[in-house]
Amino acid sequence: MKFSNQEILITKEQIAKRVQEIGKQITADYAGEEILLVGILKGAAPFMADLMREIDLDLTIDFMCVSSYGSATKTSGVVRIGKDLDTPIEGKNVIIVEDIVDSGLTLFYLKKQLLARNPKSLKVCTILDKPCRRKVEFKADYVGFEVDDKFIVGYGLDADQHLRQLPYISWVKEE
Ligand code: IMP
Ligand code: MG
Repeated sequence: MKFSNQEILITKEQIAKRVQEIGKQITADYAGEEILLVGILKGAAPFMADLMREIDLDLTIDFMCVSSYGSATKTSGVVRIGKDLDTPIEGKNVIIVEDIVDSGLTLFYLKKQLLARNPKSLKVCTILDKPCRRKVEFKADYVGFEVDDKFIVGYGLDADQHLRQLPYISWVKEE
């Protein structure tokens, strides 16, 4: 599959600066606490790697692989868990680390499922947010950048599994 690279929306330098700011914010918000970062595969991999190195707290990491069925009408079972967490989260400060919030369905249902496991706290941190695309009401606690309704690639985000490795955030049109 071929894609034409349209435009760089967010440069490598802008990403690094924003990730540093979010890391500082999390460090301040959870001062004296231990946290667990939960990266959502595969898109959040680069953000997770950068973010954890900007947080000065006692932390552990884990990963989940989830996909949403895309129905806003069902109340449960909408998120399919491919790879679950390795350890229980009861009593832990959990921060979900995601690449983008689009319809909001994935995180809306994932949050519900993880809350049922009784964490001490549960927040969501995403590098990108497309608020204009919401199908369910959902607000992330930490947002890197808001983007318009364009198909975004790079810094973990893919077009049919490709272009995840771009160090900047861009948008593409299929050729
Ligand atoms: P949501 O459940 O609709 O919020 O979508 C979540 C998932 O859709 C994200 O974690 C991404 O994997 C994918 N996604 C949404 N928008 C884009 C995009 O513009 N580019 C690449 N992937 C996207
Ligand atoms: Mg994703």
